[in-house]
Amino acid sequence: MSLEGKSRVITTHKLLEMKQRGEKISMLTAYDYTMAKIIDEAGIDIILVGDSAANVMAGHETTLPITLDQMIYHAQSVMRAVKNPMVVVDMPFGTYQGNSKEAVHSAIRIMKESEADALKVEGGIEIIESVNRILSTGIPVMGHLGLTPQSIHKFGTYSVRAREEAEAEKLMEDAAALENAGCFALVLEKIPAELGAKVASRLKIPVIGIGAGNGVDGQVLVLHDMLGLTQEFSPRFLRRYHNLHDEMLGAVKNYISDIKSKDFPNEREQY
Ligand code: KIV
Repeated sequence: MSLEGKSRVITTHKLLEMKQRGEKISMLTAYDYTMAKIIDEAGIDIILVGDSAANVMAGHETTLPITLDQMIYHAQSVMRAVKNPMVVVDMPFGTYQGNSKEAVHSAIRIMKESEADALKVEGGIEIIESVNRILSTGIPVMGHLGLTPQSIHKFGTYSVRAREEAEAEKLMEDAAALENAGCFALVLEKIPAELGAKVASRLKIPVIGIGAGNGVDGQVLVLHDMLGLTQEFSPRFLRRYHNLHDEMLGAVKNYISDIKSKDFPNEREQY
């Protein structure tokens, strides 16, 4: 296959143009081949191989336990499926904070072993040295501010962030620092809509929200949540587009019942 044939349709440059012409950016998480193939076919702009895989794929309570090897495995599975969207991979907790050398090492491992398009990191000025180092290697970086789940033990709660002026100001400073460093986009999670809109209008780079209102440049949701596969997680910002949990439950119950009643397999389903 030619290099051109392998390159993704959605690039950092395209995302910037989308912001400039007011076209909203769509982003969803995916962690495996089958799901990534479906959401690529649907026309999504960005796939995030989120560290939320720790929750929805592995059943952990927080995103902290997922490892670099596990994130690379998920990213490789997604990369085998996609043609058009940009694929962004979350750098897992402990692979970039506090040590910019290790940050570059982790970033290069993800990019080399998965062939993804970009990386996402959580935090602002505290991690700017790592962000600068990763950017210096030519890897595109997406920032993530507001409710940053890797800091859940510091926050103590998953409630809305930056309601207070001091935290909102710090968020504005962090957003500016990430843009100035050279990040190509920013995720804002669970903050007041007014603040989301303010950040999006101040920054030139696209700002993608999850619970950050409608004044940002795009939206992201966790795939398993928007499909209704997960049931226990119901924040206000989550719009469920399906109830796959109930559909799957019904299908599996029917399968069990068909086996027990000796209806499956029937004559046409055997050799
Ligand atoms: O890991 C993830 O799924 C994320 C999104 C919630 C933005 O970071």
